[in-house]
Amino acid sequence: MSDLSTPLITTAHSLDGDSGSLADDVRDGFARPFKELPPKHLYDDRGSQLFDDICTLDEYYPTRTERAILEASAPEIAERTGGTELVELGSGTAAKTRVLLDAMQAAGNLQSYIPFDIADTVVRETAYAIGSEYPELGSVNGVVGDFEHHLHLIPPPPDDSPRVVALLGGTLGNFIPPGRHTLLRSIAGLLRPGDYALLGADLVKDPAVIEAAYNDSLGVTAEFNLNVLNVINRELDADFELDNFRHVAFFDTEQEWIEMRLRAERACQVQIRQLALEVIFEAGEEVRTEISAKFSPERMADDLSAAGLELVDMYTDEQDLYGLVLARPVADS
Ligand code: AVJ
Repeated sequence: MSDLSTPLITTAHSLDGDSGSLADDVRDGFARPFKELPPKHLYDDRGSQLFDDICTLDEYYPTRTERAILEASAPEIAERTGGTELVELGSGTAAKTRVLLDAMQAAGNLQSYIPFDIADTVVRETAYAIGSEYPELGSVNGVVGDFEHHLHLIPPPPDDSPRVVALLGGTLGNFIPPGRHTLLRSIAGLLRPGDYALLGADLVKDPAVIEAAYNDSLGVTAEFNLNVLNVINRELDADFELDNFRHVAFFDTEQEWIEMRLRAERACQVQIRQLALEVIFEAGEEVRTEISAKFSPERMADDLSAAGLELVDMYTDEQDLYGLVLARPVADS
């Protein structure tokens, strides 16, 4: 990087207490007739580690398939977009990002990288690591925030050279349609004419293949799911007993999404002391902890156009398991 290899880190100030915080989401989500928690709280340090472990499982095809597609198509994407700046939403440890950065560097265009993630340590570590691995980078600016609330913290592009905003891993699928629409709209808001979005999307396929990916035989996904109760115990001084709950995941063929839930195996009461809240679970009651939508190319094109974006191309693997979608702002929107 330019003079010192010190990336800039921007942190959203409202991560605690406000809308989208754990306290707020727990209070709201547990008050509903059908209890629900947004999936982002699954990713504390332990949860992020468990997710990385999931990505190495035989049954969990999305990560390795996306990586293979990226490896095959990154040079073409770098070429087509002429991208100089990569903004990565939900960067995590940026394992797959390096494939894109390599291609942008090889095309001679790479200037700046902006990792954006909810996990503070992950953003810092990624920003520092990438900064030292890619000496060509003029700037690295990590942003710690929630991409439903804090995309405005992303610094404006320094000049009019093309920016690529990436949302990989299929994270787009974690939003129910209204939230997905809002997110795509705000991604579109980060793009000027000549900029691109690059979106990873798991595709509709045999439900048995999808269900196996979320019910792995080693039980890693179950541990990942249950870990959100540890997060609540720790952060909000609650007393969930993990033994009382069981991981459930099934494909909803109508909605075309996988749903992860935690099922109370027996009736129980939980104290969430920091919220002065008692939550009652009936035996068999379930909490929805994640949806993960599976896309058809048509659905993707429709979702994009509703947000003022148009599908430029979708790169896929030979079995059409997964799609890497290149999109751009519609000329006059
Ligand atoms: C990282 C959100 C894309 O939905 O497949 C993995 C998370 N959940 N196994 C997904 C996840 C259960 C993953 N995303």
